Amino acid sequence: MRMYDLIMKKRNGGILSEEEITFMIQGFTAGKIPDYQMSAMMMAVYFQGMNEEETLHLTMAMAHSGDMLDLSQIAGVKVDKHSTGGVGDKTSLALTPMVAACGVKVAKMSGRGLGHTGGTIDKLESFTGFTTGISEETFLNNVNRIGIAIMGQTADLAPADKKLYALRDVTATVDNMSLIASSIMSKKLASGADAIVLDVKTGSGAFMKKEEDAFALAKEMTKLGNNAGRRTYAVISDMDQPLGFAVGNALEVKEAIATLQGRGPEDFTELCMTLGSYMLIAGGCAETEKEAREKLAAAVERGDALAKLAEFVEAQGGDKKAVFHPELLPQASIIEEIPAPRDGYVSRIQCDEIGICSLLLGGGRETKESEIDLSVGLILRKKKGDYVKKGESLAQIHANDRSRLESARERFLAAYTIVEQKPEPEPLIKGVILPKQ
Ligand code: URA
Repeated sequence: MRMYDLIMKKRNGGILSEEEITFMIQGFTAGKIPDYQMSAMMMAVYFQGMNEEETLHLTMAMAHSGDMLDLSQIAGVKVDKHSTGGVGDKTSLALTPMVAACGVKVAKMSGRGLGHTGGTIDKLESFTGFTTGISEETFLNNVNRIGIAIMGQTADLAPADKKLYALRDVTATVDNMSLIASSIMSKKLASGADAIVLDVKTGSGAFMKKEEDAFALAKEMTKLGNNAGRRTYAVISDMDQPLGFAVGNALEVKEAIATLQGRGPEDFTELCMTLGSYMLIAGGCAETEKEAREKLAAAVERGDALAKLAEFVEAQGGDKKAVFHPELLPQASIIEEIPAPRDGYVSRIQCDEIGICSLLLGGGRETKESEIDLSVGLILRKKKGDYVKKGESLAQIHANDRSRLESARERFLAAYTIVEQKPEPEPLIKGVILPKQ
């Protein structure tokens, strides 16, 4: 088999067989197929697409390109959750202790933030000493013992995807549905969970700006997961404005803690309840959404969910005191309000720009190697549909550097649109895709 022939076949609109896709992925992972040939193939796929079968073969080949984590030592159903990424998306921080407190085992691989989106690992590192660099043995023991463990993506997990994603990133071939779906799902399948709940974001802060594209991606990913024998659910949720009010690592941790105390923002709490319900159902801890919601609410009310966060933080080396005393988390030295330039209703928030404000303050990574400032970020005071008077605060900005603060302030104000007419409210949850019974 020759890579040249496969490129030509795809370029001309042909369908690649399982054998051909496996040859291509194995050869690329082993360094036998050079980047320039794989780039040409990615561009051919970008223009010609892949059908359902090809996408499944690609996903399986990438999932099997490295270690497949074996979670069989953990009793019961193991559930994973994945978000396609957004701004202020601290969902895993509150959701995982909530569901673990209800008896669902969460074995999760998380990533760091890149670009305008944040990452769970960076946020968790706001707890002094917290690490995701734990051994596989500790990971399995912790899930068994306390019901929750979060690990960083290891180099041995779906290495083909790692290499391919880096190539797609620099050859304008990221935004193809089959390539995105196979990239995300290959990592999820290699991580070993029995069931997967996907949070597919849509809107100006999301990867999928258009709702129809988010639905198409959600359908593609749930099909891949279910065909691979993992019960897969998808919730399509709004990311046309930041989730909750806090954007920035330690600020988001504080908001997640408040949510576990029953004092969280309405949208964020609702998203946790929705995703949490499917995790409980998938994990066999509830039969219906109603029952699941009641269990989740009770875990928060009793303080079990907050106690679970403390247990999890401590088990991964972090200082659990900050869970009960969030004032111990990193704090910025300059805190200022951003006054509204005029009276009116907030009709639009360019969500990715708010993520970039946090990045400008030092809270995100410009490159993979960047050091981040965990204390900086924004607390929004007004969200879409809110009325604001001129001079009233739109947001509180947390910074450690005056010039960074000024650039973020300017960018922030440009991201808000204030109009006279009250805009129509948009639903948070756009849709749900359930696995077939
Ligand atoms: N996230 C991934 O992991 N892969 C993609 O292709 C896009 C987003």
